[in-house]
Amino acid sequence: MITVVGSVNLDIVATGKDLPRPGETVTGARLARHPGGKGANQALAARRLGADVRLIAAVGDDDMAEEALKLLRAGGVDLAATQFVNGETTGVALIAVAASGENQIIVCPGANAVLAPADLEGESIEHMMGVLEVSPAALLAAARCATGFVALNLAPALPVTGELLQRADLLIVNETEAEWYGTALHDSGAMVAVSLGAEGAQLWKDGRVIASATPPRVDVIDTTGAGDTFCAALTTALIEGMPADAALSFAVAAGALACTKPGAQPSLAHRADVEALLST
Ligand code: RIB
Repeated sequence: MITVVGSVNLDIVATGKDLPRPGETVTGARLARHPGGKGANQALAARRLGADVRLIAAVGDDDMAEEALKLLRAGGVDLAATQFVNGETTGVALIAVAASGENQIIVCPGANAVLAPADLEGESIEHMMGVLEVSPAALLAAARCATGFVALNLAPALPVTGELLQRADLLIVNETEAEWYGTALHDSGAMVAVSLGAEGAQLWKDGRVIASATPPRVDVIDTTGAGDTFCAALTTALIEGMPADAALSFAVAAGALACTKPGAQPSLAHRADVEALLST
């Protein structure tokens, strides 16, 4: 069982030709709403890839909460430990997507910011995935309870304690985050996965690259959720005992598939589709 500790958001998405520059107004975009949030996306992605998953998270007591949880419920993610917080709004992400598939995201954390270490202390956690859209202190409390594999997606980049990094078996960052954290990642002793967008990804251990993978070519519609799928797929594969290079190839293929449909959770890959893509 993988316990995901992370965020739930409702994504409000405007898809247009170009992203606005600071101070610019662009018009002509299409509006959509999708369940999202890095924690929720990673939980559903791991579930669609075959893992048993529970999500420890917080949503508000507003109308957006059930809309944000809809695909998790339908997908069979255990939400018994997801709390509804009185007087808080559900997290919201305002997302602009360009015709190129690139995006810009502003997150209003709402109830995600309320998840506290006390909500995690004493939890029964085997394997864990955590993401920094909830507080580092909450992730540390959860990591202290974990008896199995611990994967942390250090996104967005935030100051974290050495203890949190050292409790991880796998740290996952993109290139920008890798630069932000610097040598602290490799000093932790964990494996470090660096996603490189269309270039694929590298897996490091003890300061050297132990695996590299390039993704299959796909038609990119929307990259939202691709990083979350990569995190979930790599973690799931390593927990299953896949060798590092196979696990990384599996993860970049799953991430590539998530770019081929609009929205975060609607685009998360199913296991059979990843395996079919890898076999072509
Ligand atoms: O990683 C994509 C996610 O980031 C979106 O679903 C959005 O909610 C933001 O949290």
